[in-house]
Amino acid sequence: MRAATTPRLGLIEGDGIGPEVVRATRLVVDEALSASGVMPVDWVPLPMGLTAIAECGAPLPESTLAALDGLDAWILGPHDNAAYPPETRIAPGGVIRKRFDLYANIRPARAFEGVRATASDIDLVLVRENSEGFYADRNMFAGSGEFQPTADVALAVGLVTRAATERIAREACLLAATRRGRVTIVHKANVLPMTMGLFRDVCYEVAREYPTVRVDDLHVDAAAAQMVRAAAEFDVLVTENMFGDILSDLAGELAGSLGLAASLNCSATRAMAQAVHGAAPALAGHNRANPAALQLSAAMLLHWLGIRDGNEALRQAGARVDRAVAATLAAGIATADLGGLASTSEFTEQVCARVHRR
Ligand code: IPM
Ligand code: MN
Repeated sequence: MRAATTPRLGLIEGDGIGPEVVRATRLVVDEALSASGVMPVDWVPLPMGLTAIAECGAPLPESTLAALDGLDAWILGPHDNAAYPPETRIAPGGVIRKRFDLYANIRPARAFEGVRATASDIDLVLVRENSEGFYADRNMFAGSGEFQPTADVALAVGLVTRAATERIAREACLLAATRRGRVTIVHKANVLPMTMGLFRDVCYEVAREYPTVRVDDLHVDAAAAQMVRAAAEFDVLVTENMFGDILSDLAGELAGSLGLAASLNCSATRAMAQAVHGAAPALAGHNRANPAALQLSAAMLLHWLGIRDGNEALRQAGARVDRAVAATLAAGIATADLGGLASTSEFTEQVCARVHRR
């Protein structure tokens, strides 16, 4: 079979456990592409985080951003921006999301066989609006969404636009149509009637274009309670940036561990695989970090590329990664955060071995 071509993929290791989980993910992706008859990836390693500060004086050098501008997709490791010098303390993931308008942050939370979970029947996807909302680092054209009239007064602006809401609502409806056909709009319109009311109403407007999709809505506090009480009832949730950040950690833990919480940041033309977890610096260098979240994120990336390019082999490679991670967990092989004994490399070897299974 003609080897399908593969786009060049960026590889950004980041901080803390980032190098270990990124390298573990690269191994699994290479194995899956080979098993699917796809040409080996032309990886493009790029600096970000503490190593970039040491090499270039900035956690996200312009050279890295310029290189990403020439790529379709990339894998981003976690960043430990709390450890950056105050004058360079940015959140690289947020800067990249804004720079490339990766407006959709797709965050599945599902229970895996072999993993003890609070919500053993959870299988939902949070579709988080990634470009505005209450995130001060990206909701202004100039300046910041936060400011201080005096040393003792701080203000933050929340931004909701029809355009951004329409496109995220469309993502949610399209996804729900491939799943169980339900979208829950999560907002806080009872106290933010203009901003969150606009979000809710525009989502309902867009949903009318998808008659096969059932739509309802919940206030974010009620949604959090319902997620704990009956997570299995949720299929796709669509929500504002800050709410999505909070609910995706809740959903990840309900599913067993943030170490399994994958995410894809995407627009119509570009995508970034990024685990939901952070850099866990205390765990760095011990070969103990759970690489599954980033491996599952890379599976989402390959699937996204396969759909975007009509490249079935790439889509298949993503499915192979997803199945291999799930099969490894089902076989009782897991890292310490899940109560297992496997090291990062041992878990990855087991995943690579299962990638070839149909
Ligand atoms: C996430 C992270 C980021 C966010 C932080 C690191 C800026 O928590 O991707 O969930 O809040 O979006
Ligand atoms: Mn978060």
